[in-house]
Amino acid sequence: MWHTERLTIEPLAHEHAEELVAALDHESVGAFIGGPDVTTAAALHERIDRLTTGPGPDWPDERWWNFAVRRSSDGAMLGRLEATTYGEWAEVAYVFGPAFAGRGYATEGVRWLVGHVADELSVAEQWAAVHPDNLASIRLLERVGFQREPVSWRPIGSFDDGDLVFHRHAGAPTAQR
Ligand SMILES: CC(C)(COP(=O)(O)OP(=O)(O)OC[C@H]1O[C@@H](n2cnc3c(N)ncnc32)[C@H](O)[C@@H]1OP(=O)(O)O)[C@@H](O)C(=O)NCCC(=O)NCCS
Repeated sequence: MWHTERLTIEPLAHEHAEELVAALDHESVGAFIGGPDVTTAAALHERIDRLTTGPGPDWPDERWWNFAVRRSSDGAMLGRLEATTYGEWAEVAYVFGPAFAGRGYATEGVRWLVGHVADELSVAEQWAAVHPDNLASIRLLERVGFQREPVSWRPIGSFDDGDLVFHRHAGAPTAQR
């Protein structure tokens, strides 16, 4: 378990499913990520089990890192964070519910994630793919030190046709707002 100023971050686990469904089962959450993130606790249980099992021996360089994010003051479930590491580079993704949007919790969580991936997992080169209309996500990435690139030179797994690609390099500053 990890702590930031306002957040408690836990390795994603089976028992997070009900609270995550309650936080994320909202139509706005799926607007730019190809559909709803989760709709039922059963579906999320299945997905969490797959995510925590990892990619398996066919992809020896690939590892999946998933986290649930709570507000520390009251334990409210806010969303989840994920990183996939591929040896020398990584991609990150995040899904937060609308109930607590616009307060910087997602920014604080993603800032922690990119620092964790860089410092604890030793993967400085990080990527994210974003729908061009997902302005909140684009602003968030820029706040935590990502820059837009014309094209990706890595095969980002979460890339959908038309997405913008963002890259963060070692030592990129993470503005506080
Ligand atoms: C993308 C997503 C994480 C953005 O959430 P968000 O609520 O905008 O992010 P934050 O909670 O960090 O809030 C940021 C806003 O709060 C404001 N804010 C208030 N206090 C703040 C603080 N302490 N720190 C940072 N920002 C703060 C910022 O000014 C910012 O506003 P702005 O975007 O108008 O500049 C969220 O909409 C989401 O999960 N959507 C669904 C899934 C998705 O699209 N994921 C991304 C796929 S690429």
